[in-house]
Formats: sequence, C-alpha cells, structure tokens
Amino acid sequence: MLKVASFKNYVNFANAKTIGRLFSSNNALNKVDGGKFTDFGSKMVPLAEKQKLVGGVFSSVASKYDIMNDVMSLGIHRCWKDHFINKLDAGKRPNSDTPLSFIDVAGGSGDIAFGLLDHAEEKFHDTQSTMDIIDINPDMLKEGEKRALEQNKYYNNPRVRFMIQNGEVLDAIESNSKDIYTVSFGIRNFTDIQAGLNTAHRVLKPGGIFYCLEFSKIENGLVDFGYQQWAKVLPFMGSVIANDYDSYQYLVESIERFPDQETFKYMIEKAGFQSVGYENLTFGTCAIHWGIKV
Ligand SMILES: C[S@@+](CC[C@H](N)C(=O)[O-])C[C@H]1O[C@@H](n2cnc3c(N)ncnc32)[C@H](O)[C@@H]1O
Repeated sequence: MLKVASFKNYVNFANAKTIGRLFSSNNALNKVDGGKFTDFGSKMVPLAEKQKLVGGVFSSVASKYDIMNDVMSLGIHRCWKDHFINKLDAGKRPNSDTPLSFIDVAGGSGDIAFGLLDHAEEKFHDTQSTMDIIDINPDMLKEGEKRALEQNKYYNNPRVRFMIQNGEVLDAIESNSKDIYTVSFGIRNFTDIQAGLNTAHRVLKPGGIFYCLEFSKIENGLVDFGYQQWAKVLPFMGSVIANDYDSYQYLVESIERFPDQETFKYMIEKAGFQSVGYENLTFGTCAIHWGIKV
C-alpha cells in the first residue's frame, strides 16, 4: 500500500487517474489509506471533498436529468425502474389498517418515489402510505418538486416530504421507523457506501425491506465489450448534448468502480440484513439488490 505522504503527491499531480486505478479492483468501501482519500470516478480525492464534487455533478445535470439517463442507458432505465417498482409490489393491502412508511434515498428526481406511490394506489387503492424523498442535493430535490408540481399530485401533499439529508447518516430519520427503504442509482455516489447500508438498516423497522437499483457488472463478455465501447463515447455525448463532458465522465467512472454483485451482496449482509439477494437486469448492466431487517 502506498504511504499517505507519497500518495498525496500523486493525487496532486497529473497522474491521479492512474493511481486511482490501482485501487479500483477490490475497493468495496471506496476508501484508502485509513479513510483520508476516496475515489471520485477514477481520481483519488481527499475524503472531505467527495461530497462537494458529487454535488457539483448532480447540480450540473439536474435540469437535464432525463436526457442524461436516456443517453446513459439508451432509454432502458425507464423499463428497469418499472420492473423495480412492480417487483417490490409495495402498498397497504386492502385487508390492512396500517399505511406503509416509505423512504426513497437519493431520490431527487422523484421517479421512484412517485412511481411507488402510484403503484400502491393503482394496485391496492392505497392512498394513505407516506413517502420521504431524501437527497443531499437541493438542485436535484427541486427537480423532483418541480415534477410533483407538474403532475399536480404529490406537491404540497401531506403524505410526501422532500428532505435534504445525507443518506449515509439520515439524522432526521428515527431508527426503526420505516417499512420500505429504496435507493435507485444513488448509492454508488455515496462517499461511504457501507455507512449508507448501515443507516438503511437502522431506519427500517424489523420486517422492513431494503431495495436497491444500481448499475452493476455485466457478466456476458460480448455485451461487456459493447458497453465498454459505449462508455468511451458517453462523455463526448455528454459534451454535445449537455455541454458537460466532466459530469458524464464521472458517471461512467462511478459505474466502473461500484462493487460487483457478490461484493455488494456481502456489504448488505454486513449491514445486518437477511434473506439478501439480487437480480441482474440486461445482462447485469444493473441489478436489483434486496435484504430484510429481521
Ligand atoms: C443518478 S441520481 C438518481 C436519482 C433517482 N433516484 C433516480 O433513480 O432517478 C443520484 C442521486 O444521488 C444523490 N446523492 C448522492 N450522494 C448522496 C448522499 N450521500 N445522500 C443522499 N443523496 C445522495 C444525488 O444528489 C442524485 O440526486
């Protein structure tokens, strides 16, 4: 392992990217050298800086968020999100008196949160369950609020709270208070992913469900080769479509550095969840991970 002093010199100079890659293979907690540095895409940055840098990326893409997702996934993210919501199949059942308490973390755009509430209403006539939409970035939350206003359904609705919170901590959320915890395409941006998982476990009630949708590792060699070629052109697409090369470069690199399915499964178990499992979508381009707090 490189010593912090020499490592610092490297990260301050041009080849930070190369050094970053040295740590990319089994960096499940995405921290190195006693937690003083962490990855930001393929670069190593001081731990305290990462949140700010990630914030910059999402503030920059917030207003073009749909275009970004469509470009990155060729539009397939919409099918992945629908499948995620249908598979979870959450909502207060007609024979139950108790509404569910949902929390959607890193939920800025509101895509998942509104989709879950719509599903609960359409399938179970549930108009009582509540939703906390959490994001660390006020610009992304504003985007979600804007959509709620446009849909004229979840804006100024006592069932829905938009909250600026760090998903690693969730200090405004009581322990053992939530039935369903969702996080979609968000957790790979956390500085400390394991802290985020531990917090998910803390806020869920016993019996509560953790459900996560995230980019993952493609298992088919040919498909992976195709994706790698696509990933090379994505930052250029970002600069043409959104005049933003760097944010798209970060998003590609953050996908590359996220733990593979088995490592992430282990991390969910380490947080204390049971009945942990995952389902690969589109050859493992992304995966749904789940666990239950017992
Ligand atoms: C790619 S967007 C996903 C938005 C939405 N969940 C979806 O699936 O469309 C990632 C979100 O994670 C948020 N985020 C990143 N780090 C976070 C953290 N530590 N706590 C809470 N939100 C975070 C970003 O601000 C951004 O809104």
